[in-house]
Amino acid sequence: MPETPVLERVLFSEKQLTDRIAELGRQISFDYKGKTPLFVGILRGCILFYSDLMKQISIDCNMDFMCLSSYSGTTSTGQVRTMLDLHQSIKDRHVVVVEDIVDTGLTLEYLMGNLKNRGAASIEICCLLDKPANRKAPIHPKYIGFQVENEFVIGYGLDYNELYRNLPYIGVFKK
Ligand code: IMP
Repeated sequence: MPETPVLERVLFSEKQLTDRIAELGRQISFDYKGKTPLFVGILRGCILFYSDLMKQISIDCNMDFMCLSSYSGTTSTGQVRTMLDLHQSIKDRHVVVVEDIVDTGLTLEYLMGNLKNRGAASIEICCLLDKPANRKAPIHPKYIGFQVENEFVIGYGLDYNELYRNLPYIGVFKK
């Protein structure tokens, strides 16, 4: 595994990520059999997770993306903005929101409020990481890769000031 001086320690190796994402893919494919779900990736943190998860989905599905913004450095600003919206209607669709990490939950609270007004048949959340210690909004993802402590993590799509998204594993950021 490559050495990265900005890391306190590695939390999840490539192998751990691959194995867990395969399990999530199997579970979601089973739950949504016959429903052609729409997977909505939340850019940009979801990119590596989304791509690897989609390869593990064995049923018909559609893909779309939104880009939301709320973070500055390691701190949530609490002000969520939609930078890019969906390209298709979600009316009567079964939607699975694919997110990198749920921290305060404020981003997804905003998103769920927004999506619920569009008439989806169902909306569930699939997040790679869940950081429940810092929750400020009642967000309960149905599919969770791993729970993490209240530490700032980087890699595998997660950034610090737009750096380190390309790391193939997840680690704790060294302050
Ligand atoms: P929330 O609104 O506080 O739940 O934060 C959601 C977004 O903040 C995530 O989609 C990430 O982009 C970012 N975020 C939260 N915690 C971390 C972290 O530990 N590392 C990198 N990004 C994070």
